[in-house]
Amino acid sequence: MVFYSGAEMETEALGERLARSLPAGGVFIALYGELGAGKTAFVRGLARGLGTGGRVVSPTFTIVNEFPGDRELFHFDMYRLNSAEELFDIGWEDYLDREGVCAVEWSEHVPEAFDGSEIRVTIRKTSDTGREITIEGVELC
Ligand SMILES: Nc1ncnc2c1ncn2[C@@H]1O[C@H](COP(=O)(O)OP(=O)(O)O)[C@@H](O)[C@H]1O
Ligand SMILES: [Mg+2]
Repeated sequence: MVFYSGAEMETEALGERLARSLPAGGVFIALYGELGAGKTAFVRGLARGLGTGGRVVSPTFTIVNEFPGDRELFHFDMYRLNSAEELFDIGWEDYLDREGVCAVEWSEHVPEAFDGSEIRVTIRKTSDTGREITIEGVELC
C-alpha cells in the first residue's frame, strides 16, 4: 500500500497506525530510504503506538536501542554494518526469539537479516516535506 506524507508528524502518525496493525508475536520491520527520508520519524510513531516510553533517536552509534513497553521495541540502525558476519557480532540471532518488534533502519545494508516474512517500509522523498511511503507485508487497520 502506498501512502503520502506531507509533514514529519504525518509520517509519525503512519508509524503509529502500523503499530496498531501488527500481528502478534515477533515482528520485523525493515525500513528503506536515504538519509533524512524519515525512517526515525516513522519509528518514533511506531514506538508511540506500541505504548513505549523513551525518546526515539537514530541509534547510529549503539546499533540498537531497546524500549520496554506493552510490547518491547528494538530499534536498529544498520548503517555501519556491512556484512552478515557483523550481523552475527551484534547478536542479531538473539532478537529472533524475543517476540518483540524489531524496527530496522538501513536494512539495505543487511539483506541477510530477513527471511521474507518481514514488513517492508520504503520511504522516498518527493520534495522537501513530501514523502511517498510504501508499506508491504501487512494490511493497515
Ligand atoms: N513528510 C516528512 N516525513 C518525515 N520527515 C520529514 C518530512 N518532511 C520533512 N521531514 C524532515 O526530514 C527529516 C527526517 O529525519 P529522520 O527521521 O531522522 O530521517 P532518517 O532516519 O531516514 O535519516 C527530519 O528533519 C524531518 O523534519
Ligand atoms: Mg534515522
